[in-house]
Amino acid sequence: MVQAKNKQDKLLKKNQEKEDDSSAGSLQEDQLRADDLENAERVKVSQKIKGTKRLTQTAERDPKEAVTKFDRHTFDPGFLQMTTKEVTYKQLRDELKKYGIISDLVAEVNAGKEATILVAHLRGAPLIVKAFRLQNTCHSRAKGNPQMRASNIAQNEYDRLTRAFNAGMRVPTAARKINNVIIMSFIGTDWEPAPQLRNAIIEEPEEVFDEIIEQLRIMYRKAKLIHGDFSEYNILLHKGKPVIIDFPQAIDISLVTARYTHIRKRNLQVLQKDIETIGKFFEKEYNLTYEFDEVYRYIAGTDTDQEKVDYSIEEIEKMIGLKTGQPVFRDKAISSENYQR
Ligand SMILES: Nc1ncnc2c1ncn2[C@@H]1O[C@H](COP(=O)(O)OP(=O)(O)O)[C@@H](O)[C@H]1O
Ligand SMILES: [Mg+2]
Repeated sequence: MVQAKNKQDKLLKKNQEKEDDSSAGSLQEDQLRADDLENAERVKVSQKIKGTKRLTQTAERDPKEAVTKFDRHTFDPGFLQMTTKEVTYKQLRDELKKYGIISDLVAEVNAGKEATILVAHLRGAPLIVKAFRLQNTCHSRAKGNPQMRASNIAQNEYDRLTRAFNAGMRVPTAARKINNVIIMSFIGTDWEPAPQLRNAIIEEPEEVFDEIIEQLRIMYRKAKLIHGDFSEYNILLHKGKPVIIDFPQAIDISLVTARYTHIRKRNLQVLQKDIETIGKFFEKEYNLTYEFDEVYRYIAGTDTDQEKVDYSIEEIEKMIGLKTGQPVFRDKAISSENYQR
């Protein structure tokens, strides 16, 4: 994990030493350490990334301000309270601090249509908080309890990230999942998140493309997953190498046996779409050519011998729940723990 420089590094070391000799620090002690490190809040999180807006430091925000708004809909992490009241930065911060997962929120990185991404720190070390939204403009047709739905999506991402990590992929480490929030390792340097591939200057495009294809191969063969939303938006370039993110919609292929021919075919088509999307990006931006069939076979082996089907992109997106917001995975038993404190 990337750590803060100089003073914070020293403080972190000191704290870790402290932690080693007293195995369980009391909450009060943690609080003191967090106060010690309040300068982490003031760390300059300037944004040098081409084309993206500057990070907004949460420390500069009105603590009563809602975490984010998307069109007419308001953000509601939900686990904080079962009402429709907006959740403020202060509430989110207080709640996560209470769980002892973060010392403080630092900055907002991104507010997409499905989740808000924030940088937090735990005793000076940066972390990513991904809070899934309950309400969502394109999820108006989603059925069921919104808290449960958001919690299931968070669980999907947590499980799939963990599986990808265990398979040896270059992904953030999923640390905790609480209701509709997941905490993962921060990918970046000196408090600056690594840029998305689309905003990065790739010096060795061929090597990066090869590494990405390698990641797809590990994902398919070892993690038994198909990403489903693979693109230059969901790959970060960290120290010249790709890191794959954003897994809530990833398809679990481990349970799909040969009997389910149509599901296998659909899955393979999603994989083809993933390859084509990233291939197109490299063709367009870096004039790189590649042999689709060769790459496809490198990833999926003899599975590629399956007869081709022709679903439209819209149909695929609908099937894997990308645009509809329907829960993607019905195979997962819903644990009441997920949304109860
Ligand atoms: N672990 C991480 N480290 C650094 N930046 C991250 C991390 N996770 C997400 N981000 C940033 O937030 C953006 C959105 O995250 P993502 O998981 O793709 O959510 P969304 O569902 O909103 O697309 C990413 O493109 C990236 O810039
Ligand atoms: Mg994304």
